[in-house]
This record gives sequence, structure tokens and C-alpha cells, in this order.
Amino acid sequence: MKDKINIAVLVSGGGTNLQALIDAVGSVITSGVIKLVVSNNRSAYALKRAEDAGIKSVCITKADFGGAAGMEAELVRVLEAEKIDLIVLAGFMSILSADFTQRFEKRIINIHPSLIPSFCGEGYYGLRVHEAALKKGVKVTGATVHFVNEIPDGGEIIMQKAVRVLDGDTPESLQKRVMRLAEWKILPKAVEKVSAELLKKEQQA
Ligand code: GRF
Repeated sequence: MKDKINIAVLVSGGGTNLQALIDAVGSVITSGVIKLVVSNNRSAYALKRAEDAGIKSVCITKADFGGAAGMEAELVRVLEAEKIDLIVLAGFMSILSADFTQRFEKRIINIHPSLIPSFCGEGYYGLRVHEAALKKGVKVTGATVHFVNEIPDGGEIIMQKAVRVLDGDTPESLQKRVMRLAEWKILPKAVEKVSAELLKKEQQA
């Protein structure tokens, strides 16, 4: 009987959330293993983190596969070949089609650096999220892990953590605090929660 969920982590950049997951395997994460890292950006530092951790990685870019549809087709091929059960978007800067999200319904999760439904949806990514929070003058922000469906940042919420906004915060200082105090904490916990649920379902089937 299967005793671990196979996880793929999709990245585009620095990969600090990937690192938080790598560091949590065996402690916080006991129901899954990171089997694969996929990057859509050849120069993502996240690829080096995967290599250092001995995790298989592949680079699938729109340029190499003739656009978004070709990239997604290759992504599906690789995920199925590796028998991936759970897909974690950890700073993956590409919107996935409804076809893709429906194929892996309740098997894709994303980390977003705000308390959804604030500062989310199309156009809210990276520093822009924190710029918008500061502009609005909110005193509390945070991070959200949610299931991914066809609506950007619109799927069911799995976990959230609040972070205080401090006087004098810049988008950069706020981004760092949200990552350190919220993202890196809740992403591994949410991955374990979903992995444990998926594992239970498989074992009952
Ligand atoms: C994080 O802020 C995450 O919330 C967002 O993209 C950023 C990725 O950072 N979706 P990293 O690559 O994990 O360091």
C-alpha cells in the first residue's frame, strides 16, 4: 500500500518556499515526498536548491514548447510520468488553463502573499501585492494557501496566517516579513494537511 504522496513543486524564481518545503520533509511533512521540481525559467535559483537537495528537476518553458498550450501539454506529460499526486505552486509565475486545473482538481495548491480575498487575482503578484496593501493602509496582511481552480487565487482556502504591517514598512520589508512569518510556516503545514487527506483517500479506495 502507498505510504507517501508524490509531490511536484512548480517554481519560477528564488525558491525560498521550495526550500521551506525541502526543510520540512521528514518533520512537518510526513505524508508526502517531493519527487519533482518543475521550473518555467531556466535561470531560477530554485533549480539549484532542488539539485542541492538531490531532487529531480526539469525546466519546461513556453519558448521551448511553442507557447502556453505546448508548455502545459509537456507539464501534464511529465507530471503523469512521475505519478504526481499533488502539485504545489511555490512562486510559479504562469497562469494555468481551466483544462489543467480541472484535470488535477483539488490536487493543486498555491501560496499567495496576502489574506485572500484582499489583494489577489490577476495582476497581484510579487511586490505588487505588498505595494497595494501599503497603499490601502491595512494594518494586518499575511499569506494564504488555497486550492487552485480556473479563477486566479479563487479556489478554496486551506490555511492563512496574519502578519502585522509596521510603520515605515516598504513593499520589500513587508514582503520579507510575510515570507518569514507566514509563507514559510503555513506552506509546509498545508502541504502536509492535503497530503494526509489524499493518502487517507487512497488507502480507503
Ligand atoms: C512568494 O511571495 C509567493 O507567495 C509568491 O511568489 C513568491 C515566491 O518566492 N507566489 P520564492 O520563489 O518561493 O522565494
